[in-house]
Order: sequence, then C-alpha cells, then structure tokens
Amino acid sequence: MKIEFEFFKHCLQPRPNVLVSCRNKKGENNALAVAYASNCSYHEPPMVMVGIVPNRYSYHMIKESNVFVVNLVPKNMEEEYYYLGSHSGRNEDKLEKLGLNVKDGKKVDAPILTDFPVNIECEVVDSMKPGSHEMFAGKVVQIHVDEEYVDKNGKPQLNKINYL
Ligand SMILES: Cc1cc2nc3c(=O)[nH]c(=O)nc-3n(C[C@H](O)[C@H](O)[C@H](O)COP(=O)(O)O)c2cc1C
Repeated sequence: MKIEFEFFKHCLQPRPNVLVSCRNKKGENNALAVAYASNCSYHEPPMVMVGIVPNRYSYHMIKESNVFVVNLVPKNMEEEYYYLGSHSGRNEDKLEKLGLNVKDGKKVDAPILTDFPVNIECEVVDSMKPGSHEMFAGKVVQIHVDEEYVDKNGKPQLNKINYL
C-alpha cells in the first residue's frame, strides 16, 4: 500500500551534496552548500545546473560575476559542508573561519576550494526561476581533479571518491 501526499519538500532523492564557490566584485570569496544541482548537458557544451535561493549572499555574487565553481564533497568534509550550508558569508568569511584553502579559478573569476577533490569551473549561460530557486545553467570551462582520482591513462575516476 502507498500513502498519498500532495507534496513535500525535496521529494527528488537522493540529493547531491556540492559546494558552490563564488566571488563578488569586491573580491570576497564565499561558498554555500547546494543540493539543487545536476548535470544538464553532456556535450556541446557540457553544462551543470545549480539552484540558488535569492536571499543567499552567494546569489548576488553569481548574478554579479556570472561564474561559479562546483566542488564535489567527500564524506570526510561533512563538518565543513554543513557549516558552509548553515552560516552566511554576509556575516563572516566562512572559508577563512574553516581554514579552507582557495586558489583562483584558471578560467573564471571565482575561487576553487582545493581541499575538495573535484572543482568544476562554470560560466553562466542561462538561468530560470520556476519557483524558490533560481536555476543557473553553467557551461563547464575547466575541471580540476586530484591526481589520485585520475588513472594511469589520464581518465578521471570520479566513482572512486567516497562522497558525502
Ligand atoms: C544540505 C544542504 C543543502 C542546501 N541546498 C541549498 C540549495 O540547493 N540552494 C540554496 O540556495 N541553498 C541551499 N542550502 C542552504 C545554503 O547553503 C545556506 O543558506 C547558506 O548558509 C547560504 O550561504 P551564503 O548566504 O553565504 O550564500 C543548503 C543547505 C544545506 C545544509
């Protein structure tokens, strides 16, 4: 037997756990936890989509810069993930507070979180706001993968990561 619901929050499961990092015009770096995330085009060009609520501090950074970085999250970074997902960059420099290492993106003006095994640099090509979240489609312009997740033939092995 099935129990019927009109709706409930976040009904599509399992949810991905990614960190989206970004930078504003003042040069402030920030990152937030994002579960509304997906691949949305696998070629010509490859794209990913992230959903950000307009009251997030990061939202205005992405609107301003039109770029973002998606960082994949392993289990051992759970504490950092939930901190970034429950505190706002409006009130503090979260990355500094957590002692996270950042590096400039190679192709975009946004920080890469180098403590995370995969960092995907994206340029916003489109966005739509069907509901609570503005969904930003980002063209993937550069991907950084920790060498332990690249095989001897140069092929990324992202299934080897123990994801949160
Ligand atoms: C597990 C988890 C998933 C989240 N997913 C999203 C999301 O998909 N989109 C979003 O805008 N906020 C999401 N949040 C909330 C933001 O990460 C949170 O509000 C954060 O503090 C915003 O930071 P900022 O104000 O520095 O941008 C999530 C939080 C958690 C803990």
